[in-house]
Amino acid sequence: MEHDRKMRIGIIATGWIAEKAAITINEMEECEAFAVASRRQETADAFAAKWGITRAYESYSELIADPDVDLVYVATPHSHHFDVTREAIMAGKPCLVEKAFMANAREASEIISLAKARGVFLAEAIWTRYQPAVGIVRRIIQEGRIGQPRLVTATLGYSMGEKPRIMRADFCGGALLDLGVYALNFVRMFCVNGDGKSTDIISIDGHCVKSVTGMDITEGITMVLADGVLANVQASAACVGDNIGVIAGTEGNIIIDNINNPQTITVNGPDRTFVETIHVPQQITGYEYQFLACRQALIDGLLEPREMPLAETLYIMRLMDNLRNKWGVRYPMDKN
Ligand SMILES: NC(=O)c1ccc[n+]([C@@H]2O[C@H](COP(=O)([O-])OP(=O)(O)OC[C@H]3O[C@@H](n4cnc5c(N)ncnc54)[C@H](OP(=O)(O)O)[C@@H]3O)[C@@H](O)[C@H]2O)c1
Repeated sequence: MEHDRKMRIGIIATGWIAEKAAITINEMEECEAFAVASRRQETADAFAAKWGITRAYESYSELIADPDVDLVYVATPHSHHFDVTREAIMAGKPCLVEKAFMANAREASEIISLAKARGVFLAEAIWTRYQPAVGIVRRIIQEGRIGQPRLVTATLGYSMGEKPRIMRADFCGGALLDLGVYALNFVRMFCVNGDGKSTDIISIDGHCVKSVTGMDITEGITMVLADGVLANVQASAACVGDNIGVIAGTEGNIIIDNINNPQTITVNGPDRTFVETIHVPQQITGYEYQFLACRQALIDGLLEPREMPLAETLYIMRLMDNLRNKWGVRYPMDKN
C-alpha cells in the first residue's frame, strides 16, 4: 500500500463495535470507511447511509471480493470470526479481526498458519495493544521509577445483562473471551523483559462464577511470572468494575485509570507519595491506533503488526483455552 493514500477499510457486520469503528474512521485522515457488509442488504444500506460509506454489500463474501478494499475489518461475534477471516485470507485480503481473535487456539493456529502460507496480512483488533499508553507505561517501568515490579492487578467489569454474545456457548460466550482477554493482555503488555518480550508465565490458575447457561460470568485469574511477579486479574460481565490496573514495584507504583482505554497514568513513589499523572494524547475514540498500525504495517510490507504479533495472539488464546478447560466452559468449536 502506498504511503500517501488513504487505507480503504471494509467493515464486516453492522453491530455495536462496527459503529464505533465507523465513527472513528470517519474522523481519521489516513483511513476511509469505504465499504460495509451485512447479512441483509437493508441493514448494510442503513449503516452506509448513516456513516457516509460508499459501498454497501448484502453478504460478507461480496465485500471480500471487492478489489478496492485494502483492509477487511471483521466485527462479527467471536464465534463467527473464523469462517469470514478464512474466506478473506483465501481471497488474499489483509484482515484485522476483532478480539477475541477466534473461538480457541486451534482455530487461531489454523488461521495464522493459513495467512502465513498465503502471505496475507493478519492482525487482532485488541485496541489496547496499539494505544499510546503502552509506550508510556513501559517507559516508566524501564526507567526504574517504581523499582522492580512485583505485583500486577487489574479488573475489567461491565454489567452486560443477558446478551446472547455473553450467555450462549455457540456465540463463544462468557467474560473471559470478551473482557478477561484485556486483563490478560494488560499483564502481557507490561510484564516485559529488557528487550520488550513478555515474561513467561510459569503457572496460571483461576476460578469463575458461571451463568445459568454454563458460561464464565465473573472470574479471578492468578499468574506467577518468571521474574518474580505475581499477577492477579479479574473480569466480569455481571457488574460495574473499577477497571483500574496497578503495577506495584519495590519503589512505587503505577495506576492506570482504565485498562480498557487508559486516559491517565499516575506514578506514586515509596509510601504511595504522589509523583505525577500523565495524560494520554488527545484521541478520537482510542480505536484509531489499531487502524493506523495496520496501515503502517501494510505500507511497510509486513504480514502482522509490530504492536501485536500473531505469536502473542496465539499465546493468549492458549491461556484462555487452558482456563476454560479448568472451568469446564465449552464451546461447540472445541470438539476437535
Ligand atoms: N474492541 C472493543 O472495544 C470491542 C467492544 C465490543 C465488542 N468487541 C468485539 O466485536 C465483536 C462484535 O461485538 P459487538 O458487540 O459489535 O456485537 P453485536 O453488536 O452483537 O454485533 C455483531 C454483528 O455481527 C453480525 N453477525 C454475524 N453473524 C451473526 C450471528 N449469527 N448473530 C448475531 N450477529 C451476527 C451482525 O451484523 P450483520 O447483521 O450486519 O451481519 C451483528 O450486528 C466481538 O468479537 C466482540 O468481542 C470489541
